[in-house]
Amino acid sequence: MKVIKDPVKIQAIVDRIRPVKKIGLIPTMGALHKGHISLIESAKKEAEFIIVSIFVNPIQFGPKEDYKNYPRKPGEDNKILEDLGVDILFSPFVIDLYPNPQTTFIHIPSLEKLLCGKVRNWHFKGVLTVVAKLFNITKPHFSYFGQKDYQQALMIRRMTNELNFDLKIRLSPTIREDDGLAVSSRNIYLSNEERKRANLLYLSLKEAEASLRKGEDPISTIEKQKLLIEKNGFILNYFEIVDPETLKPLDEVKDRALIAVSAKTGKTMLIDNLIYE
Ligand code: PAF
Repeated sequence: MKVIKDPVKIQAIVDRIRPVKKIGLIPTMGALHKGHISLIESAKKEAEFIIVSIFVNPIQFGPKEDYKNYPRKPGEDNKILEDLGVDILFSPFVIDLYPNPQTTFIHIPSLEKLLCGKVRNWHFKGVLTVVAKLFNITKPHFSYFGQKDYQQALMIRRMTNELNFDLKIRLSPTIREDDGLAVSSRNIYLSNEERKRANLLYLSLKEAEASLRKGEDPISTIEKQKLLIEKNGFILNYFEIVDPETLKPLDEVKDRALIAVSAKTGKTMLIDNLIYE
């Protein structure tokens, strides 16, 4: 596996590779876990040249967020990627991607302030901007994202289509621990006690799904789950049942819906979602 930090160097390599091999890109912020591994495995099924990027992107973190303390495990990550047979690890320094303060940003105003964007209204422009840079630098045919970050993946797909990036976005199912907790790099912040209760969000999504199936309306379904989550000591950010494309709340569920939740336990913000069909 080649480890490359310089965007110009990797651009020169992919210019040679792209005409002869399908390139798959898995953008990550490192601290790799089962979720990332499943994305790499999906990529290997259809792409012939696999690039993983590891970059903790400062512009998607708020001033009071965990940018400095975000888990970084370069040694372990390298070993995982070597073992998986990844071709290139692109792990630029901040100065490599942002040699000057970034002044160009990508926004999707109709989506960026909904769900997770309600309290983190800077976050998605930082994500879209860095992902657009990664696409231009690594020129993939396919790029892989997890359903756990559904809103992020939806917005990246929208950006890709509307800005005519020449690649396809693939969405992979959320990888879960045995008790249902969605795997995330931030789960390591959970204390033992918090970890034991952390699967409540998944259980409450499943309960909401069952209520909708029985014909209960979204508003009372949401109220019930909000009470359950708060009664268990979580600080609820949102529990919503929304249209999976517009992310706007649904008064009535006809065919598809996204059931999405975000809540804090201790210092850890957890998110999870299910698609109701
Ligand atoms: O999901 C992530 O890890 C990040 O938001 C991403 C897509 C790598 C952009 O920094």
